[in-house]
Amino acid sequence: MTTILVTGGTGYIGSHTIVELLNQNFDVIVIDNLSNSNPKSIEGIKKITNKNITFYKVDLQNFNDIVNVFSNHKNIIGVIHFAALKAVGESYENPLLYFQNNIFGMINLLKAISLQKQNINFIFSSSCTVYGSPDYLPVDEKHPIKEALNPYGRTKQIGEGIIKDTLLAHKNISAISLRYFNPIGAHDSGLIGEAPIKPYNLIPVLCETATGKRNEMLVFGNDYPTTDGTGVRDYIHVVDLAKAHVAALKKLLNKKDKQYYDIFNLGVGKGFSVLEMIKTFEKVSKKKINYRIVERRKGDIAEIYADPTKANKILNWKAERSLEDMLKSAWLWESKFRYY
Ligand code: NAD
Ligand code: WQD
Repeated sequence: MTTILVTGGTGYIGSHTIVELLNQNFDVIVIDNLSNSNPKSIEGIKKITNKNITFYKVDLQNFNDIVNVFSNHKNIIGVIHFAALKAVGESYENPLLYFQNNIFGMINLLKAISLQKQNINFIFSSSCTVYGSPDYLPVDEKHPIKEALNPYGRTKQIGEGIIKDTLLAHKNISAISLRYFNPIGAHDSGLIGEAPIKPYNLIPVLCETATGKRNEMLVFGNDYPTTDGTGVRDYIHVVDLAKAHVAALKKLLNKKDKQYYDIFNLGVGKGFSVLEMIKTFEKVSKKKINYRIVERRKGDIAEIYADPTKANKILNWKAERSLEDMLKSAWLWESKFRYY
């Protein structure tokens, strides 16, 4: 069996990626401290795949606990590292928590990996936020890393730097950093999806407005230099994103050189505005969305979308699902299946 350790695997992107790993017959071990997820996602994964995974409630702050997991599973050949805090607003209020959790946690994980005798392939959840406010569009991987927009974004910039330097000294590690644009949607079954404790991102807020949990949603600014004045983003279906992790893992497993490091943008390559998102959501959900235009949100940029050509060519991966697919699946999860 080819065993993959997934950190943060009970969370949103992790749970969808585990489904794709199991579908491809990888054996999966999960560690998560459940700080932002519910272990019920594991039941959803089991229902979808009819396969089992091994779960450890472990916090990456505890180095010895990570080492114990590796001692229990000597055949781990890949680690997909999702575990991190990701709420931008909270990261302004408590930057040290974000550095402690995201940076220290990753250092502990890499330290444990560096102690292993076997070669380990490491995949890091990075973000388009590393580009800051982009100089040109679409953004390719050659775009400079600019000033971080917030402490959360800085943890991703630092995380990528830590990986590069660690690989220079520890030759048993190969790695890929994946810079996600805006992941949305849910598994087609509706059995797993996004379940934020405090919704902040556009789609969870849209869904809550549609279910009536909130009376209205706020649109943050309509005076940006975009088609209709509202913010433009590259939204990518979470299942497409999950499949990209399997593609990256296969790239690492089949590498010709002894050691490998690369970075890939994961996006569709097309931007949609907030108003376009609301309109398409209304069409697929048949719900009227009550919204109000307010001031711009602190730290937001006008527009960003990816040039995903490098991932298309080198990982042999392409985002396939449409915006309607993304919003339909998000709504199916939220309205019928969400159980946590
Ligand atoms: P999520 O919060 O649903 O999943 C992250 C998981 O990590 C959670 O289950 C949480 O409990 C766990 N975790 C956090 N700190 C931990 C620690 N110290 N020890 C063990 N477990 C810990 O978030 P997600 O949307 O699935 O994001 C996964 C990764 O992708 C994160 O690294 C995030 O920064 C990155 N990312 C997310 C987005 C997005 O919009 N969702 C975009 C770009 C990058
Ligand atoms: C999308 C658009 C908002 C909520 C965040 C992180 C980024 C990355 C992806 C992890 C923007 C507008 C939103 C609302 C609104 N995550 N909006 N009303 O800000 O592009 O990116 O998630 O790495 O780092 O910053 O995503 O979904 O919050 O916003 O008008 O209630 O929707 O202004 O234009 P964002 P988002």
